[in-house]
Amino acid sequence: MKIIAVIGSGTMGNGIAHTFAQFGYQVNLIDINVEALQKALKTIEKNLDRQVQKETLSETEKQETLARINIFTDMKEGVVQADLVVEAATEQLDLKLKIFREVDIFAPPHTIIASNTSSISITQIAAVTNRGSQVIGMHFMNPVPVMQLVEVIRGYATSDETTAAVMELSVKLAKKPVEVNDYPGFVANRILMPMINEAIATLYEGVAGVSEIDTVMKLGMAHPMGPLQLADFIGLDVCLAILKVLHDGFGNPKYAPCPLLVNMVMAGKKGIKSGEGFYNYADGPKAAKVASKFLRA
Ligand SMILES: NC(=O)c1ccc[n+]([C@@H]2O[C@H](COP(=O)([O-])OP(=O)(O)OC[C@H]3O[C@@H](n4cnc5c(N)ncnc54)[C@H](O)[C@@H]3O)[C@@H](O)[C@H]2O)c1
Repeated sequence: MKIIAVIGSGTMGNGIAHTFAQFGYQVNLIDINVEALQKALKTIEKNLDRQVQKETLSETEKQETLARINIFTDMKEGVVQADLVVEAATEQLDLKLKIFREVDIFAPPHTIIASNTSSISITQIAAVTNRGSQVIGMHFMNPVPVMQLVEVIRGYATSDETTAAVMELSVKLAKKPVEVNDYPGFVANRILMPMINEAIATLYEGVAGVSEIDTVMKLGMAHPMGPLQLADFIGLDVCLAILKVLHDGFGNPKYAPCPLLVNMVMAGKKGIKSGEGFYNYADGPKAAKVASKFLRA
């Protein structure tokens, strides 16, 4: 594999592009939004600078990494020569189905199409293509250049060859791939999201405040970051979308998103990406006060 197309240049797309480029792959980064592409290039440069400061990368390697990334707004141009496509667009089923239909038409027959989806069924996405055996989940964690795990998700039709190729490729990116099967939330989010949702419910019910809840989980459970701050990092809209998939997929009320999460997303409080979630990021993370008016009386 030489040319990797990454679709979506948001939180995850820029990290995925960064990682492939750093390990020598040519990256075509595609987004419908030019500003998102420009922002992604700036973020990648800033994150590479951090690696140079830490002396884990040389200045020359930084320049070479940046030079391997090309940006596209046209899907066909971006995928027509790709050996692997990694889709990391917004977590919406209809959008993913549309993208996979298009990529299936424009990408060469040998190309593997992977989705970085947090929860949407790989089997369902694969079914709209004519290459179900070459469709797979490649679930990177945020921040991609730092986090070691890649959850590799086998859909109903995913072949052994495709799985082996993606496992091998993940190792070449210095990641640790783990193979799992395709059920709602896979493994990572099936376990993580109910914990985040419960932390939000604990806040909603007035059991404790934002920093108290996060401190309990950091100091008591040795989590590097509290669940509410982690939700801000992931994006509250993404958390809500994943909980909806779990709720619909299992039909179990235990996955119902907490009303406070629903309200915050509707109010545009999406976490770091919108400047505020459970914390305010205007001048460093500070527990936000705004949520209190939405708390259950
Ligand atoms: N945020 C996380 O921590 C995290 C972790 C693992 C996986 N994921 C998954 O990664 C995917 C992306 O999440 P994100 O947090 O980066 O989202 P994001 O909102 O930060 O970025 C999504 C990007 O997709 C672009 N996009 C939308 N429609 C498009 C189209 N038709 N063609 C090309 N680009 C398009 C948007 O312009 C935006 O730049 C989702 O499936 C999400 O579930 C997210």
